Parts: sequence; structure tokens; C-alpha cells
Amino acid sequence: MSSASPAPFQLPKNVLIVGAGGREHTLVKAVLASPAKPRVIAAPGNAGIAAEVPAFPVAVDDIPGLVALVQREKIDFVIVGPEVPLSLGLVDALARIGVPAYGPKADGARLEASKVFTKEILLKYNIPTAPAGFFHEVAPALAYLRTRPIPIVIKADGLAAGKGVIVAQTLPEAEAAVRDMLEGNKFGSSGSRILIEDCLYGEETSILVVTSGRDYIILPTSQDHKRIGDGDTGPNTGGMGTYSPADVVTPELLSRIELEIVKPSVDAIAAEGIDFRGTLFIGIMLTPDGPSVLEYNTRFGDPETQVVVPRLDTDVLALLFAASQGTLAGVRFAIKPEHAICVVIAAKGYPDAYPKGDVIRFPATLPGNVQIIHAGTARNASGEVVTAGGRVLGVTAIGPTLRAAADSAYAACDRIECTSKVYRRDIGAKQLNRR
Ligand code: AMP
Ligand code: GLY
Repeated sequence: MSSASPAPFQLPKNVLIVGAGGREHTLVKAVLASPAKPRVIAAPGNAGIAAEVPAFPVAVDDIPGLVALVQREKIDFVIVGPEVPLSLGLVDALARIGVPAYGPKADGARLEASKVFTKEILLKYNIPTAPAGFFHEVAPALAYLRTRPIPIVIKADGLAAGKGVIVAQTLPEAEAAVRDMLEGNKFGSSGSRILIEDCLYGEETSILVVTSGRDYIILPTSQDHKRIGDGDTGPNTGGMGTYSPADVVTPELLSRIELEIVKPSVDAIAAEGIDFRGTLFIGIMLTPDGPSVLEYNTRFGDPETQVVVPRLDTDVLALLFAASQGTLAGVRFAIKPEHAICVVIAAKGYPDAYPKGDVIRFPATLPGNVQIIHAGTARNASGEVVTAGGRVLGVTAIGPTLRAAADSAYAACDRIECTSKVYRRDIGAKQLNRR
């Protein structure tokens, strides 16, 4: 969808970006690049964000604190990065004081916060997805397991930072996962209900859709690497690297995904009475029988954003503000032909326990096509940038080919000094090896 006419409203002048990760650092850069030249602040931000805009130490789950910040700083538009403030009703609270925001209200955020809620919608509207059963007691869950093919997937209902999903390879492993979630309280209240879902096979892709609730724009395709280790080994993480475009999503396949999944999803959400203005992030398995929905997220992906947003030849502020106003009509939208890659540098030990406070030393200069995006970083008492999270940095590069972008990103990764750094060496390798 595109049109040359200007947006039918005045763009905001004072923008708050909520969050502290690589996604938010990328959004800060994109909004600063808007021709509208807004003043941008962040909460709580990280060391990289704080080097670019004022960052206020208000936590993402402190809804009254964020609302107070908005009022004090005369903010006229809020972009919400992570899922937690969305599900806690930040956008609802902002609406009550008349401040527009990009991101769904709490009812829309349930599409991410409850896998059971989403599965019910997918099944009700015949959107392709794996068959599943819902349980809150162990005995019926174990009985159901015995009727399904193995491997099988066990999912905690609630938010679990991407870690509440077990793909069990054997029946005992599946039974243990069921017991862990329902009895062991491993996931707290997130695991008090579970979903047992047939295993799907194929390549995964994420489709990010900006929607105003009525209309939508599909952002560039991308692919994440969820496992910690090279060759997709080891535990799941929040995402260890991405590239865009994902060639596995051919134009024909994208049309099919739009017809069978994207449009029916946007329509289903509206039909459920949810006024969803934000990013609908659809996790999709490309199975031999066609694309099938794994999950919805209700926010930009991290690290998908780090490769998708730099490829937009678009005023990102105008795009997101238009969505918040309930119409994308008049938004000029175009995608750059370049390839982008993001290699996540994590702290050794992630996604389990990892050290914090390790000093990071950056190369003095970087090629123009490389950006170091901060995720889990902070400053120590001496003012040095140190590690402060599991995913520390996202080294992002663009180039005429994926190979060129990958070579640039990896050259920069090698030059970043940090004793606890680990990163996958094979981001983009599947696509590169297909050629
Ligand atoms: P989710 O949070 O539901 O996207 O699940 C996290 C990850 O678990 C996905 O990205 C997949 O790698 C894997 N997964 C989830 N559901 C399935 C499924 N039905 N079949 C195979 N893998 C799955
Ligand atoms: N990279 C996956 C996510 O943001 O959920």
C-alpha cells in the first residue's frame, strides 16, 4: 500500500520511546531521522540510547511512573517497545490522559500474553495453525499427550520471555515438561495453564505488520535465529541474530501468507472487538503443507527490528503515528533493496545465568554501513560501557548482498572487546548456503 499524499495530520513534536533493548535503540535512531525532527526521550533506555537522547530511569513496568514522565515532559506521542507495559495497560492509561501511543491496549496485548487466547482465535477464524489442547490439570494433559504424535510442543500460557516453550523429543520429556509447568511452578502464574500443540516442521519466519486496526502494511521479511548455538543447537533465546530480506519468503509465498494469515488475522482481531494499533508480529512455520501460525507477538521483534527498520525508506515516525491515529491512508511506504543483518553479542551463559558489569571496548571507527546497537548495556561508576543484560549488543550492517552485510557485521563483532562476549558465527548461513 502506498500513496504520495502527505499524512493528514500534524506529526508529534515530543516523543517518548519506552524500553531498554536493541529494538528501542533502533527505534530511537529511526525516529531521530524523521524529517519532522522531533524531540525524543527514552525510558529507561540503555548506554547506547542515553548517548543519543535523554534517558529517564523509569522501569517499563512502572505504568504510573511512565504516565507521570509523559505529563512532566509534555510528550505528545509514545512508542512502546516491549510487551510488558502493553499487557499492563500503558496504552490504556495514556489514552485516558489523551496521549496517543503506538502499541495495542491491554486487550490486544493479550494476543501475546496468552497463548491460549491466541490459539482460540486462530482456531475460531480458521487461520492455519497446529492442532492443540488446553489444560490446567496434569492428568488430562498426560492423557492427551498419549494420543498425539511425538515430538510434541508444550507451551506455558503466559509471558515467559520466549522460554516457556518446550519442543519435547520423547514422551517422558513431554510428561516432565507438563509436570514442571503445571506442578513445579517453573513459570509461575505463566505456567498455570498450558497448551499442548502438535509439532510443525519447516523453516521459521517472522512477518511484522504495522496495523491501524483497519488497514495494515507488511514490513520487510526477516528471519531470526532463536537457539543460542551455531547450527540451531542449545536452548531457545530471545533471538541471537536476524537478516532481512528472508529469501525463503518468495513474493508468491508472501502473497499466500498475506491472503491466508495476515489479512484474516487483522480482520479476526477487529471482529473480536479489539482496536489493535501497533505491530502484529506473526511467527510462522513454513511447513510442507503451507504457512502455519506459531504465535502472535504484539510489538516489534527484537532483533528483527534491527534489520527491518533500517531497510525502510520511510518516515518511521509518520508511519507509527498514522497507525496510532487509526489510518494508514496517505502513508508513504517503500523498502530499500539492500540486505541487512544483525549479529547479537550475548554474555557467556545466556540464556541462563551470565555475568554483568564486564567492560566493553568499541572500535574507534566503523565502516558507514555498520551500526552497533545497544541492548543490555549500562555505564559503570567510571563512565565505561559495561554489560548489563544477557543480550548485550546487536551488530547491524547493511550491504548490497547478504554476504557483504554479513562480512561487515562479523568484522565489527571481532573488533569489539569484552571478556564475556559470545555470538553465533552462522547468522544468515542458511540463506547464504542455499545459493
Ligand atoms: P512461540 O513462542 O510459540 O513462537 O515458540 C517459540 C519457539 O518454539 C518457536 O519459535 C519455534 O521454534 C518453537 N515452536 C513453537 N511451536 C512449535 C510447533 N508447533 N512446532 C515446532 N516448533 C514450535
Ligand atoms: N526475536 C523474537 C522476539 O522478539 O520475540
